[in-house]
Amino acid sequence: MSKKRVLVVGGTGYLGQHLLQGFSEIQGHPFDLAFTHHSTPPQPLVHAIPHSRAFHVNLQSGEGFEAISRSFGQPHVVVNCAAISVPRSCEMDPAAAMSINVPSSLVKWLLSFEESNTLLIHLSTDQVYEGVKSFYKEEDETVPVNVYGKSKVAAEQFISTNFSNYAILRSSIIIGPQAISPVPKSLPIQWIDGVLSRGDKMDFFYDEFRCPVYVKDVVAIILALTTGWIAEGKQMKLILNAGGPDRVSRAQIAETVADVRGYDTSLIKPVSASSVDRGVKSPVDISMDITELIQTLHISPTSLRVGVQLTLESQASS
Ligand SMILES: NC(=O)c1ccc[n+]([C@@H]2O[C@H](COP(=O)([O-])OP(=O)(O)OC[C@H]3O[C@@H](n4cnc5c(N)ncnc54)[C@H](OP(=O)(O)O)[C@@H]3O)[C@@H](O)[C@H]2O)c1
Repeated sequence: MSKKRVLVVGGTGYLGQHLLQGFSEIQGHPFDLAFTHHSTPPQPLVHAIPHSRAFHVNLQSGEGFEAISRSFGQPHVVVNCAAISVPRSCEMDPAAAMSINVPSSLVKWLLSFEESNTLLIHLSTDQVYEGVKSFYKEEDETVPVNVYGKSKVAAEQFISTNFSNYAILRSSIIIGPQAISPVPKSLPIQWIDGVLSRGDKMDFFYDEFRCPVYVKDVVAIILALTTGWIAEGKQMKLILNAGGPDRVSRAQIAETVADVRGYDTSLIKPVSASSVDRGVKSPVDISMDITELIQTLHISPTSLRVGVQLTLESQASS
């Protein structure tokens, strides 16, 4: 039987690389893997996933998708990890944020195939929520407060209006080990660890709440959706909160890092988020209820403490 084709759009990003690694580590290598990049694909990634194919794609123009049709074919599963994922960057160039984060060229390409047998798994964010209460559920109204969130809501609407087989994952902050080829943006746990290990006193917000999720759990969620679709062929229209089990502030995340490492907790100075101008509005409490995720996929995400431990252990061994 021929292998099923999986395309990771944005395979060079933080999650994309972890996902390619996750797919390539499945026993028996049941999938033909391809990924897209926008910049030059990093060599460590290309070497680490030798049987995957790399394609240059520009989501703004749609340039590059035809080449995938010709030499890879219609994918059975597409995971869209590409985005301008830094809220401040979205604020600085809203037009680019909209044209990249709303995957209209990708969806139009998928609709160009005669048979509609592709599952689209799309990465959204907890920042679709307004942040005025705790533990948002999937059916709660989306009221984004910044351009990043607005572009993600527009993406969700575009996909649900135009495509019939999709899973949208509203991810919280992703924590975990560095990617195969280090990504340019700073990773939350590694950043906190660096600051505290130098003995620097640092401000941390005590009044903004998130449910950080461990990167390998996000990978496990995507693998479960992929294998479910391949095995059962049942089309889905799914929106899932993809967070960890703990609702925490940044100060609490820093305390967890300090506790695991044995750092002096007096270095952590709790401040209000309202005391700092970050150039982008940030929702206050976008903690999420993940009951639906647990019930649908039977995955229980890793606690913050264990996620921090695993992240720091990987630092030590790299
Ligand atoms: N990381 C988090 O904490 C987090 C939290 C919530 C939601 N999410 C969402 O999860 C997804 C993955 O996040 P991430 O952290 O892995 O993102 P990331 O590291 O910033 O990666 C972004 C990816 O998008 C690609 N890209 C950028 N502009 C492009 C364009 N014009 N055309 C085609 N591709 C383009 C990049 O390609 P090149 O590298 O080749 O330029 C890269 O592969 C995103 O949708 C993000 O919004 C992430």
